[in-house]
Amino acid sequence: MQTLKVAIAGFGGVGRATAELLLQRRDRYRQVYGVDVRLVAVCGSRAGLADANGLQAGQLAALQPGLTGPAFIAASGASVLIEAGPSDFRSGGPGLAYLREALAAGQDCIVISKGALVHSGPQLRELARASGAMLKLSGAAAAALPTLDLLQHSLAGCQVLAVEGILNATTNYLLDAMRTQGLGFDAALREAQAGGFAEADTRNDTEGWDTACKLLLLANFGLGADLTMEDVDVEGIHAVTAQRIDSWAKQGLVPRLVGRLERVNGTLRASVGIKTYPLSDPFAQVNGKNKAIRLSSDAMGETIAIGCGVEPLATAAAALKDLEHILQARAARPALSKDHPA
Ligand SMILES: NC(=O)c1ccc[n+]([C@@H]2O[C@H](COP(=O)([O-])OP(=O)(O)OC[C@H]3O[C@@H](n4cnc5c(N)ncnc54)[C@H](OP(=O)(O)O)[C@@H]3O)[C@@H](O)[C@H]2O)c1
Repeated sequence: MQTLKVAIAGFGGVGRATAELLLQRRDRYRQVYGVDVRLVAVCGSRAGLADANGLQAGQLAALQPGLTGPAFIAASGASVLIEAGPSDFRSGGPGLAYLREALAAGQDCIVISKGALVHSGPQLRELARASGAMLKLSGAAAAALPTLDLLQHSLAGCQVLAVEGILNATTNYLLDAMRTQGLGFDAALREAQAGGFAEADTRNDTEGWDTACKLLLLANFGLGADLTMEDVDVEGIHAVTAQRIDSWAKQGLVPRLVGRLERVNGTLRASVGIKTYPLSDPFAQVNGKNKAIRLSSDAMGETIAIGCGVEPLATAAAALKDLEHILQARAARPALSKDHPA
């Protein structure tokens, strides 16, 4: 049986959930793909663990100080890296160094944090192309909601004319709370924070940056664009008053924070802002912490997906969906080379 060694850099809520789910699914990987998938290394910012024979679930509680960093991951012998560190799109975050080293060495990468992909997406794409490594990012691109899969697989061959997405759960939750209770932004945020439905600092979400990051990933990795944050018009929800909420409600309109990509004269335009929808529109029904995406293409018309999962399991499962795609692609390689000898 073939062995596939996997490492995880970034071992907080999502990294741990991914490790646990991967270990639970080892029998599935053996049965379906004939591959012994081993978790050979994990690390946080200061500590980690490594075992070439595969870590077991019981070992993951106590990490050893000093075992961390891109060189530690490289030394583990993993051929797949799952990156789940903190996301910082302005600097690229710690994930950038892990991804540069892994992709340059030809390791397949499954990326969950958005920062490095937004900061240096085209460069990372080029490193992957040059080394032949696979670069997957479902966990970073709205996780449980299928987005890149729709662009890359379901609409393959079509020209995508427009993408519209409710891509951030926190802002959708807040806009719903404002609408149903007639509150302005500040009052709704205070109430959500008091109830534990929003974090202490939600500016990344409410100012629209998280949606803009996900939109850039869809543009650059789903549609082959080379956009940067400067190309995106970004508006958040923090200026929404109770009066605006009331006026929309009287017109039967539901506000959503959406990211939009549109082809205008052959150029891809990107924007994030509030858009209102009549109750008859499916986007008006995407309540609470749900997310949604609507794609318009030349030949397949309009496609809509709506989804939400319980975190951090949903994001872990999105990352391991990428692992399944890597296992499928690896399984297909020998057959391809037999059919088409070099
Ligand atoms: N939570 C969600 O539902 C969700 C959904 C989709 C995507 N994401 C993304 O997933 C990523 C992880 O989220 P999370 O909720 O798991 O965050 P978290 O609990 O804060 O965990 C972050 C982890 O990254 C580690 N880290 C920091 N610097 C590092 C470095 N230089 N090398 C290695 N590890 C480093 C931290 O280590 P220490 O423990 O030592 O500090 C911690 O283990 C974020 O980028 C987030 O945006 C999260």
